Amino acid sequence: MSVPFVHEPVMLQECMQFLDLKPGAVVLDATLGGAGHSSRIVQGIAPGGTLYALDRDTEALEAAGQRLASVRNVTIVLAHAQFSDLELVLKQKTGREGPLLDGALFDAGVSSHQLDSARGFSFLRDEALDMRMNQQSGRTAADILAEADEQELVRIIWEFGEERFARPIARAIAVYRQNNVLRTTGQLAALVQQTVPRKAWPRDIHVATRTFMALRIEVNQELDQLAQGLRAAIRMLKPGGRLVAISFHSLEDRVVKHTLAEAAGRKKPVPAHSPELFAEADRQALVQVLTAKPLQPGGEEVARNSRARSAKLRAAVKLGT
Ligand SMILES: C[S@@+](CC[C@H](N)C(=O)[O-])C[C@H]1O[C@@H](n2cnc3c(N)ncnc32)[C@H](O)[C@@H]1O
Repeated sequence: MSVPFVHEPVMLQECMQFLDLKPGAVVLDATLGGAGHSSRIVQGIAPGGTLYALDRDTEALEAAGQRLASVRNVTIVLAHAQFSDLELVLKQKTGREGPLLDGALFDAGVSSHQLDSARGFSFLRDEALDMRMNQQSGRTAADILAEADEQELVRIIWEFGEERFARPIARAIAVYRQNNVLRTTGQLAALVQQTVPRKAWPRDIHVATRTFMALRIEVNQELDQLAQGLRAAIRMLKPGGRLVAISFHSLEDRVVKHTLAEAAGRKKPVPAHSPELFAEADRQALVQVLTAKPLQPGGEEVARNSRARSAKLRAAVKLGT
C-alpha cells in the first residue's frame, strides 16, 4: 500500500528551533499524524536517538509507520494511544518511571487526512456523522446528536463552538430528531443553515463551521485530552527538555497557554479542562515559558499551506537539575 497522505508539517522550522534536538535525544511526538514532523525529528536525533510517537488514529499510525520504515540509526516506537495514556504508554514501553524525555511535540487537532477521509469531519461532502479520531472506540457525533438532551447540546455548541446561535441550533436538532434521525453531515449542515438567519451568516467561514467544530471537540474530548497530555509531557521531560505545542483555534491555545502558565508557577490551576492538576506546581515552577506570545507562521507558509493559517506555537523548557 502506498503512503496515502503526506502534508507539509506546520511551523516545522520553528518546532525544530525550539526542540533544539541533539543526536541521541529521546523525543515524544504526541501527534504522529502523517509523520511530517517526526520525519524531521528523527534526522535531528540520529544517530542513537529514540522517537516515541503516538496517535489514536490507526490509519495515521499505519501510514506514518510506512513513511518511517526506512529510518536507520534511530529507535522508533509507535503506539496507538491517546494523550491521557501518555505516561502509562511510556512506562510500558521503557519499563521505567519518571522523566526520560528531551523533547515533546503536540501538533493538536485534526489532520488533513482526517478532514479528507469520509469520517464526517467536513460539511463539504455528505458523509456519516462519525468524527471519531479513534475509530475503535467512543461515541460518534451521530450518537451525541441522538442522545444528548437539548441543554447538553446548547452547552456543547456554545462552549466548544462559541456559536452565538447555540440555543436555536440545539432547539432545531431536538425538533428534527422527533421524527428523523440525524445521520449525515449534509443533514446537520442544512439544519444549521435553515436555523441561523441568513443576514447573520459569517462572511469568512461556513455557517456550520462552529457547530461542526464543537461536535468534533466533544466527540474526541479534545480539550481535556490536550490539558492532560501537556501535563503528562511536562512531568516526563528531563530538566532542560523542551515542550512545543501548536494549536489551531482559540480554545486550544487557551489550554496550552494556561497549562504552561500553571506549570511556570504563574497561575493557579484552572479547573476547566484540568482534571489532573500538578501537585508539584503549587509552589515551584516546573517550566520556563520560552514564548512570551505565541508564534504564528509567516505569510509564505500560509500561502503554501492553508492549514497553517490559524496555527499558534508555544514552547517551554523544563527546569531543574
Ligand atoms: C494535526 S495532526 C498531526 C500531523 C503531524 N504533526 C504531521 O506532521 O504529519 C494531529 C494528529 O494527532 C492525533 N491526535 C489528536 N488528538 C489526539 C489525542 N488526544 N491522542 C492521540 N492522538 C491524537 C490525530 O489523530 C492526528 O492524527
